[in-house]
Amino acid sequence: MQLTPEQLEQFDREGYLFFPGLFSPEETRTLTEAVPELYSRREDYNVREKGKDAVRTNFAAHMYSEPFGKLGRHPRMIGPVEELLGEKLYMHQFKINGKMAFEGDVWQWHQDYGTWLNDDMMPTERAMNVAIFLDDVNEHNGPLMFIPGSHKKGVVDAKHDLTTTSYPLWTVDNQLIRQLVQRAGGKNGGIVSPKGPAGSMILFHSCLVHASGSNLSPFDRVAVYLSLCAVSNHIRRFKRPEYIAHRDFTPIECLPDDCLLQNYPVDLPWKDGIPATALQTSMDEITPERKAA
Ligand code: SIN
Ligand code: MN
Repeated sequence: MQLTPEQLEQFDREGYLFFPGLFSPEETRTLTEAVPELYSRREDYNVREKGKDAVRTNFAAHMYSEPFGKLGRHPRMIGPVEELLGEKLYMHQFKINGKMAFEGDVWQWHQDYGTWLNDDMMPTERAMNVAIFLDDVNEHNGPLMFIPGSHKKGVVDAKHDLTTTSYPLWTVDNQLIRQLVQRAGGKNGGIVSPKGPAGSMILFHSCLVHASGSNLSPFDRVAVYLSLCAVSNHIRRFKRPEYIAHRDFTPIECLPDDCLLQNYPVDLPWKDGIPATALQTSMDEITPERKAA
């Protein structure tokens, strides 16, 4: 999939591109059907909503689930990002976010690169998010909100929020959000929410400021996020477990375009369980008393 000059210009200006219905219902179903079993697992890689059993985010399914292993090597996701970054990519993070009916909690305003810089020491913003909707996304089930053009600000001030939800995030304060939204058009386009059928794809810049509200509707809003990083820009610190911030910087080789519907061998290194090393962090090494605890 080759991006057009108009798409390249739009990405540069707005910081995201939306591809409604890019994956067919048959392709999307191969992924959606695998989610309940993955979410039922009592594993560290399933982070549940605060005080609830509903899964907020599942990490690293491309390492142990065949359909998601294929998605992580899909040319429709990898191709355009390779084109935009002009380099081979590795998988920095892979998540399946639940945002389940009635239970799905907010994602506070943030830039993903803020977290990758502060936690993982990723040198520059040469990384990108690709989202695939596994459910239809509408105005009721907590769609993503973007501030168009906010990626042009580079890395903005953020604070480490450890309490609002079950998942720590470097978040942007309300005053700055007010300014960024105003600059992007205020009530006229200062916030946009791409909505569309399951199988739609969004590509967004790692500095684009985004958030999503809670899901009070009876409709699940499951979505997959690939965070793809240019190989030369790999992280320099292993502060977070490997299932959250990957440490294998091998360039991704794509499968054929029909991979979700056909049988292709796919390497699943964590198929029989995740290794103990994937839970270790560099912080364990520098604070031995924590390791002993
Ligand atoms: C994210 O920003 O990583 C997730 C946002 C969402 O799923 O709504
Ligand atoms: Mn994010």
